Amino acid sequence: MEKTRIAVFVSGGGTNLQALIDAQISGLLSHGQIVLVISSSPEAFALQRAYKNDIPCEVVSKKEYTSQESFEERILQSLDENAIDLIVLAGFMSILSESFTSRFPKRIINVHPSLIPSFCGKGYYGLRVHQAVLAAGVKITGATVHFVNEIPDGGEIIMQKAVAVRGSDTPEKLQKRVMKQAEWQILPRSVEMVCKEMVRSRTKK
Ligand code: GAR
Repeated sequence: MEKTRIAVFVSGGGTNLQALIDAQISGLLSHGQIVLVISSSPEAFALQRAYKNDIPCEVVSKKEYTSQESFEERILQSLDENAIDLIVLAGFMSILSESFTSRFPKRIINVHPSLIPSFCGKGYYGLRVHQAVLAAGVKITGATVHFVNEIPDGGEIIMQKAVAVRGSDTPEKLQKRVMKQAEWQILPRSVEMVCKEMVRSRTKK
């Protein structure tokens, strides 16, 4: 079986990348293989996780490019060189334009730390999402894995998992619980599901 070739895009701690690596090691992710990690920052701890697991990495930092177009051109070149089939945005904090995302319909997956359509879209990322959840006083939050299209956090939903908000939560505590109980569970499962489908449709041809 020819596995789906995955590129994971990161910017920070990389705990979701770790969940994917662990899923690959345990066999939960069996129809796909992470063959490339692209980081928007040279300081991202996610890079250490990739090095440790012998996954090739590239740093493509937006501030080193004069335009969005040249930044994305550089990414496209890496994707092409590595024959990437599927992109996973795992805490990737740089914006990708519509001209980029439209090249990969149902081939870009994102994990977002809330139950979409709540607390998503422009300005909602990382800890800010959990701050907004606590400020609104909602009792249930969670995480969503979805396909990426031209609408920020607006693509088709693949999987969601709810997490209870506690009275004693701080944004940091809530973030950790949402990661552990939801993101690290549904991201590997969603990626496996999509990879499996891609393998199946390739072998049908
Ligand atoms: C995760 O909580 C992810 O859902 C979030 O950033 C964090 C990255 O953590 N992504 C977004 O907010 C995207 N809108 P990680 O680097 O440890 O995986």
